[in-house]
Amino acid sequence: MISDGIVPPAARSAVEQLQAYSAPLEGRRSMLRLDFNENTIGPSPLVAEALRGFSTEEIAIYPEYDGLRDAVVRNLLETGCRPGLQSDQVGLFNGVDAAIHAVFHAYGDAGERVLTTSPTFGYYTPCARMQGMTIDAIPYEGEAFTYPLAAIQASLQETTPRLLLICNPNNPTGTRLAPEAILDLAASAPQTLVVVDELYEAFTGDSVLPAADFSATPNLLVFRSLSKTAGLAALRIGFAIGHPGVIDRVGRVTGPYEVNSVAVAAAFAALADQSYVDAYVAEVLRARDWTLQALRSAGIRHHCDGGNYLLVWPKQPVAVVDAALRGEGILIRSMAGKPLVDGCFRVSIGTTSQMQRFVEAFLRLDP
Ligand SMILES: Cc1ncc(COP(=O)(O)O)c(C=O)c1O
Repeated sequence: MISDGIVPPAARSAVEQLQAYSAPLEGRRSMLRLDFNENTIGPSPLVAEALRGFSTEEIAIYPEYDGLRDAVVRNLLETGCRPGLQSDQVGLFNGVDAAIHAVFHAYGDAGERVLTTSPTFGYYTPCARMQGMTIDAIPYEGEAFTYPLAAIQASLQETTPRLLLICNPNNPTGTRLAPEAILDLAASAPQTLVVVDELYEAFTGDSVLPAADFSATPNLLVFRSLSKTAGLAALRIGFAIGHPGVIDRVGRVTGPYEVNSVAVAAAFAALADQSYVDAYVAEVLRARDWTLQALRSAGIRHHCDGGNYLLVWPKQPVAVVDAALRGEGILIRSMAGKPLVDGCFRVSIGTTSQMQRFVEAFLRLDP
């Protein structure tokens, strides 16, 4: 602890007012981790093989990215993206978190507005605050947490925000928005950069990429990540897909080697094994059906829409259930303090046997 009384220089005023964004990430290794919507069984065996073959020469030199954008394009075309996508329409980032950060950095000036919904992914807010932007977060509607489309349309027209952030499906409510509605929003607001965070689209099939024409709507930007379905969360690699001009601007505020070589090697292997990801997604969807049936039979209040997660309202206070499950080696994510979902927890959906373990423990600990 430094206590010499000499105060370090102040950061920018927006940063001085900022609280560090911290997720509770320690001590999770041997647990059943249903708290961060990660892949619960790990990546394709091809990824492990690629990492085993990683040489000391590759460790000693700065990362090289040749061919990775093309591999992303091939994978996106294989999974339904509109034909014609080029490699200069893909940006590489140290996880989508870094892409979010870069978008705010490149596009958000102090005093400008960002339009989004509430509750949604937690990292948008500190990025907006870091830039000194004003946040307009419109609540989801009703018990079904419906997307507030009319209010978003009205706000887009009345205020011309600099950014509109759409998390689809939304984390944590799972709310789905039809791709056509997103494309209409982007077409109606050419001065607003419309960012579609599609981290969980594999579980819904609601991607805008099959229909997106970035020449007609250059203000549309889409995020994809290898963290959740491909199982590379620790390696930190995500993509932004959009108009080459937008990818260029976002790349200008990104360091030259932000994505490391291990992530690059793993990404090539993961992108080449789409059938592994498809099989994992299919298992999660089966596990979701099983879990919903079990919760319904037990009369537990819950909400599930898109994504590999659902919300559960326990009978006891969330903190009590959270601690009890943790005692059994099972992690869930409390939604305490979040608007509209305070009092419940989010549980990620893994395999059927993992969900059987969760449901058995939950029903026993919160009878
Ligand atoms: C909606 C959403 N966007 C972005 C991220 C960050 O993803 P990445 O691991 O690619 O940084 C997450 C992670 O939880 C998320 O839920």
